Amino acid sequence: MNKIIAPSMLAADFANLQRDIEMVNASDADWFHIDVMDGMFVPNISFGMPVIKAIKKHAKKTMDVHLMIVDPDRYISDFKNVGADILTVHYEACTHLHRTIQAIKAEGMLAGVSLNPHTPIAVLEDIIVDLDLVLIMSVNPGFGGQSFIENTFKKVEQLKHLIEYAGSKALIEVDGGVTIENIEKLSEAGVDAFVAGSFVFKSENPIQTITDLKRLVSSK
Ligand code: DX5
Ligand code: ZN
Repeated sequence: MNKIIAPSMLAADFANLQRDIEMVNASDADWFHIDVMDGMFVPNISFGMPVIKAIKKHAKKTMDVHLMIVDPDRYISDFKNVGADILTVHYEACTHLHRTIQAIKAEGMLAGVSLNPHTPIAVLEDIIVDLDLVLIMSVNPGFGGQSFIENTFKKVEQLKHLIEYAGSKALIEVDGGVTIENIEKLSEAGVDAFVAGSFVFKSENPIQTITDLKRLVSSK
């Protein structure tokens, strides 16, 4: 399978958002990763519907929306309306996760579930066949630019086993601290999609950085 690079727009220059969107359009990246934070589920507030709508206006690639918000059911149709293609909610934020996943699919979006670093893979056992994507947090959600948590490798392997055992089609995505140093090993462990924020946007040449990341995970 062709592996996916998803630059996180949280690390973009918000005063030059259109420029950074066009950069991603012109690059080898596959998805736009959009981080929504509510100041409740995570100790930070990022942006909401008007900004996502503005990104969608220029974005020519899949909109991968990662909700770090409590009670995401309130906004599922709103996220569809502003252009989300994939909607990922946090396991820790959903009391009725099965219902939430069905509601996302009913809106015609792909449905993902994200796990915090302390949340074991086993909690997905009874929902994995319903999922299009599992997003493993490799940092504690809330901020870009943190260091990668090494325990992620173990979780990726466990998730891969669960997906195969259950016959699920879910993609494995990893988010946080992804760099040129760890992307190849993550890919070998079974990761399909890689979110990279600071490593892309703080680099001298983001287009080249995306090409470099993509090359390391493309089948040789
Ligand atoms: C963290 C966000 C990430 C973040 C990744 O809460 O979910 O998507 O933007 O940023 P880096 O790649 O800088 O760790
Ligand atoms: Zn994210």
